[in-house]
Amino acid sequence: MKTVFITGGAGFIGSALVRLLIAEGNWRIVNIDKLTYAGNLESLASVSDSPRYCFVHADICGRATMDVLFSEHQPVGIIHLAAESHVDRSIHGPEDFVQTNITGTYTLLEVARGYWSGLSGEAKSQFRFHHVSTDEVYGSLGETGLFTEATPYQPNSPYSASKAASDHLVRAWHHTYGFPVVTTNCSNNYGPCQFPEKLIPLMIHNAVSGKPLPIYGKGDNIRDWLYVDDHARALRLVFEKGTLGDVYNIGGHNEKTNLEVVDTLCALLDELCPRADGLHYSALKTYVADRPGHDKRYAIDASKIGRDLGWKPQETFETGLKKTVQWYLDNPKWVARVVSGEYKTWTDKNYGSRV
Ligand code: NAD
Ligand code: TYD
Repeated sequence: MKTVFITGGAGFIGSALVRLLIAEGNWRIVNIDKLTYAGNLESLASVSDSPRYCFVHADICGRATMDVLFSEHQPVGIIHLAAESHVDRSIHGPEDFVQTNITGTYTLLEVARGYWSGLSGEAKSQFRFHHVSTDEVYGSLGETGLFTEATPYQPNSPYSASKAASDHLVRAWHHTYGFPVVTTNCSNNYGPCQFPEKLIPLMIHNAVSGKPLPIYGKGDNIRDWLYVDDHARALRLVFEKGTLGDVYNIGGHNEKTNLEVVDTLCALLDELCPRADGLHYSALKTYVADRPGHDKRYAIDASKIGRDLGWKPQETFETGLKKTVQWYLDNPKWVARVVSGEYKTWTDKNYGSRV
């Protein structure tokens, strides 16, 4: 059975990808994750007993450990998602972003290149390194236009700058060493198991807890939303069929202002979980100071991945958001254990560490 490495598989998108590949694929998956605050093995409970799933608690910056893992498991490829991913955290403390997103990606590229150089025949020609990145590397759009794969990089936050740096390293490793890479740049994801610091899960959690819903600035910044399982399906497709050296933009054609997102969430909650006091959730909306350097608008032109690989999203914003709200309502324990920190004790009890 062929083995594929997934880094960051205990995170929001990584866990959706692991669940998809265990449910529908035939690879053995080795999930390499440091289990930072964003890593939660409870998101992988449904696959943890699969004989095709293996978890390794490790930091991608640890070169010696990564070397051992490649020679132990002999993967046919790697899908690299491990990262620090939250813009607000990057503003308050950029160091981890530089370390994991840049040094970690560099370390993986070097270890994977060393391993790949020692392969021969089909194993060598089929190996690939899939780098998972964000549309935020392109900067901010004005009122019109879309990000394409040819849009110049203009990252504005420490997060997007660190991801842009990692994208450039990946590109250079292909250009200089002929190392087999593909890169994907995706728009904002939402769905089950997202840490309640990002807009959508934070608003759902605060609303059902009766807390204020903090809207930065005027709430008129625009994001282009994609349901996480649609992203996971796109990642599988690009990993399997993408052209080496190419970049694919992934997005859902769902441009919404933050205010529209919050209002839609409030209306869904009014319908699915009406408040006992009869008040509407929108009464909790609160305008707060804007994020420094807040990018105005993101929007993706996803025509290349549609044309070349036949991908299109299965969820609309309406169906995806309803599923998401329902998931958080049905899984209050997942959120409660994240908020209380209990998810970490579960993790420590069950796994050894190579960190
Ligand atoms: P996340 O923060 O939910 O998860 C990141 C995972 O990486 C966690 O499990 C964490 O423990 C792990 N990790 C962090 N540092 C590590 C290290 N040094 N070694 C090993 N593991 C480490 O992130 P996410 O939202 O799932 O994003 C996954 C990837 O997709 C990231 O590369 C991100 O830049 C990219 N991306 C995210 C979005 C989005 O909307 N969330 C959109 C486009 C692209
Ligand atoms: P976020 O989910 O942090 O994703 P990103 O910054 O990577 O796009 O934020 C999405 C949008 O929501 C962004 O414009 C900032 C805004 N936002 C709020 O208005 N309030 C909040 O509490 C958060 C977390 C985000």
